[in-house]
Amino acid sequence: MELARRYDLRVVEDAAHALPAKYKGRFIDTIGDLTAFSFYATKNLTTGEGGMLTGGPDLIEGARIWSLHGMSRDAWKRYSSEGSWYYEVIRPGFKYNMPDISAAIGIQQLKKLPDFQARRREIVKRYNDAFGELEEVQIPVKRPDVEHAWHLYVIRLNLDLLKISRNQFIEELKARNIGTSVHFIPIHLHPYYRDKYGFKPDDFPVAYREYQRIISLPLYPKMTDQDVQDVIEAVIDIVGVYRR
Ligand SMILES: Cc1ncc(COP(=O)(O)O)c(C=O)c1O
Repeated sequence: MELARRYDLRVVEDAAHALPAKYKGRFIDTIGDLTAFSFYATKNLTTGEGGMLTGGPDLIEGARIWSLHGMSRDAWKRYSSEGSWYYEVIRPGFKYNMPDISAAIGIQQLKKLPDFQARRREIVKRYNDAFGELEEVQIPVKRPDVEHAWHLYVIRLNLDLLKISRNQFIEELKARNIGTSVHFIPIHLHPYYRDKYGFKPDDFPVAYREYQRIISLPLYPKMTDQDVQDVIEAVIDIVGVYRR
């Protein structure tokens, strides 16, 4: 924000994973100029698909026009006395409006968000307590100024202490009926970017190194205590079998 003020830039917060995170007591979306939320099906709050942009009135009014065919609402208001059919297209806009049905889902989800978050925090605490002592597993970093949204719970394997790779670890979890994922595959490894820009895996050594050791464990409010216990036991079992 300091740099942005100095160079007259606008800051967009990517809050796709960050509802309802806080930094130094301030909610996500109270820091930058615009904030983009994702309400995709897997997110902490969902409308099935879509998202939301928040910010000051001037930027938001502009975004509204872009998001609905470039139609001017002002024109609508100005000419309403002539009949509701009138509108003006003042930009080559998009069709990025949220459908009412999605918004209705979102309003109900919003009421449930505190309970969702409380459950996410409980599960994270159980994972942290269970894995905190395992040398082979690095648990998510906690920073004093940050209240985490806990959209994902990503463990990092200390591969030099294990006889198996991350991919094999995932297979072992799968064999124990635990579904996991990897967030994310670095962009430079994807064929389009790799081939277009001639990237090698080690061109981004930190992203590549961390990519090879990350696993996202199941984390969602509907998990039962038994589900959480099953995940914990599976991870501890695999570490026990494959530690060096
Ligand atoms: C960091 C980040 N930004 C943006 C997005 C895109 O969100 P959406 O799918 O709502 O466009 C995602 C999706 O997960 C994301 O992880």
